Amino acid sequence: MKEIKRIGVFTSGGDAPGMNAGIRAIVRSAAYYDLHVYGIQRGYEGMIDGEINRLEATDTANIIQRGGTILKTSRSARFMEAAGRKIAFENLQENDIDALIAIGGNGTFAGAIKLYEEHGIPIIGLPGTIDNDLFGTDFTIGFDTSVNTAIEAVDKIRDTADSHNRLFLVEVMGRHSGYIALYTAIGSGASAFLIPEKEISISGLEEMLKKSLKRKKLFGLIIVAEGNNLGDSNEIAKQLKQIAPQYDIRVTTIGHLQRGGAPSQADRILASRLGYEAVNGLMGGKLNCMAGIVNNKITFTDFSESILKKKEPEESMIKMAEVLGM
Ligand code: F6P
Repeated sequence: MKEIKRIGVFTSGGDAPGMNAGIRAIVRSAAYYDLHVYGIQRGYEGMIDGEINRLEATDTANIIQRGGTILKTSRSARFMEAAGRKIAFENLQENDIDALIAIGGNGTFAGAIKLYEEHGIPIIGLPGTIDNDLFGTDFTIGFDTSVNTAIEAVDKIRDTADSHNRLFLVEVMGRHSGYIALYTAIGSGASAFLIPEKEISISGLEEMLKKSLKRKKLFGLIIVAEGNNLGDSNEIAKQLKQIAPQYDIRVTTIGHLQRGGAPSQADRILASRLGYEAVNGLMGGKLNCMAGIVNNKITFTDFSESILKKKEPEESMIKMAEVLGM
């Protein structure tokens, strides 16, 4: 493998709080090895458009506490084509970039695999997504902050639910993953949750409502992952209303609120550790893999494994959330 002197770093896919802490750690760890770092703007889009600039350690001052990503991000359709990847690689060559560090999720790593297969450039990834759906790490960068944000919102909604005796469906993100919904449900003391990993019928929900009716409880919080099997929250609310007209039902979608804001300490530290270890990994010959933390130990998981193996919430956590929500 060619000696690594210049590293390109980029963020891609949905932004996640803690990405900036990751960039900072990469730039500063690289400086320790006298490596030069180049920041690629807007993920794969900027790689194709040649938006590549030197990033000095001082450029990463005052960013650890900021949400979003100073490098900006995108979901690039052009990079899905071989022609786009070829242009991107030529731009990397023009800037003498020997290796890349990508911060992102599934789509980002799928692109990284292609880039390596076609052009042989070594790449290491940091798991940066609020969804926590990447195999090979206990937690992804951004997940903790987004759950904290969702819980704060649900705490506020609870005041109205309680005061008016209302049933609220609160929709959180997670197109394919129920982690945010499950952790938000546990942390906010919700009555129930709908997640893609555990299918439920409207009659199953009705059963749950019947139980609380027995206790003369008319208020409640149901946390709904956007990717749940029953579909849109407003639609679920309509169906519930037909089955249980005694409930005064409202729907709140938290949406992109849960992707922004200052990262929690957990996300700052996770991103700092992973950024530091990704640079160490590259220097030690690791490539085509994602740095993660499993049981508080640094691990490197092949990109293919991290995106192909589905990471799902543990059955025991789901059971516990059901028991505690009753
Ligand atoms: O992958 C992160 C995520 O926030 C998902 O939870 C959500 O479904 C999706 O991104 C939303 O993407 P966009 O911001 O492109 O609409």
